[in-house]
Amino acid sequence: MSDRVRIIEMGPRDGLQNEKSAISVEARIAFVQALVAAGLTTVEVGAFVSPKAIPQMASSDAVLRGVSHVKGAEFHVLVPNEKGYDAARAAGAKVVSVFAAASEGFSRANINCSVAESIERFKPVLARAKADGVKVRGYISCVLGCPFDGEIKPKAVADLAKTLWDLGCYEISLGDTIGVGTPGKAKAMLRAVSANIPVASLAMHFHDTYGQALANLYVGMEEGVRVIDSAAGGLGGCPYAPGATGNVATEDVVYMLEGMGIRTGIDMERLLAATNEISRLLGRPPVSRVATALNAK
Ligand code: HMG
Ligand code: MG
Repeated sequence: MSDRVRIIEMGPRDGLQNEKSAISVEARIAFVQALVAAGLTTVEVGAFVSPKAIPQMASSDAVLRGVSHVKGAEFHVLVPNEKGYDAARAAGAKVVSVFAAASEGFSRANINCSVAESIERFKPVLARAKADGVKVRGYISCVLGCPFDGEIKPKAVADLAKTLWDLGCYEISLGDTIGVGTPGKAKAMLRAVSANIPVASLAMHFHDTYGQALANLYVGMEEGVRVIDSAAGGLGGCPYAPGATGNVATEDVVYMLEGMGIRTGIDMERLLAATNEISRLLGRPPVSRVATALNAK
């Protein structure tokens, strides 16, 4: 497995969207810059969603504008509908991500509509993005379990992935939103999805609530997936996913990959510095095992 893996850094978006401490726009911009300086070439920097729903992501336009001069990196933002797309485009977005769920319960809680309605909301976004030359990534939440609906069948994930793919998403990111998956389930889900769309177009977005994320990622890599979403310091969570903790930590993923002989191009020392600075601003140490180990040295 000694080939390349692409890491999509989630810290400034998923990482901060559920935090109680307010992080200034300047600090969010500095966090993105520090991550890029560490070698992360794709960073999700914000979300154009309702500021009443997710106040932490307000001013994502200022964050996106604030990093527009940064060379050598691609910046992603979430958009749930055309209103979000308009705002993202006005701020200069070149890549946007739509986000659906494999379960009705989470779709309703997160974006206040059914799964089918969410697809109808995404259709004009994808059509306009195509005309504008904007790339669209598609997320599916709750691929290994839902906090409201429980078990999720791999077929439900595979069918929705195919729908998003047919609409024109260039990549489908599969979210274990509440971090309940285990390797056997992850493998079955990934096999079902990759029967519908090319494995090269899949990403794994695993939260680490039950400490299974690295094991699930390893199994996914054995299945051929080469794109991993992770967040510096293991930050992250979703206010609509009760009990869920952060994304798998970027440090932990980088440590595993480099240990397997897979080059990531990421400088661990600089990544740790970015993690430590945002953790200082949040007022608590990072949960990442690797950051904890390295900070203790
Ligand atoms: P809604 O209530 O159905 O929408 O919300 P609406 O069209 O009826 O509008 C309601 C209000 O929201 C209006 O404002 C709109 O203007 C405003 P009001 O008249 O009340 O003042 N509005 C917007 N404002 C800013 N930007 C927009 C926008 N759209 C409408 N784009 C909506 C639907 C999706 C907007 C809302 O439910 C929402 O913002 N939800 C937040 C969803 C979210 O950000 N969740 C966290 C990210 S997803 C995640 O973390 C999972 C992921 O990491 C993968 C994984 O781990 O599984 C991606
Ligand atoms: Mg997430």
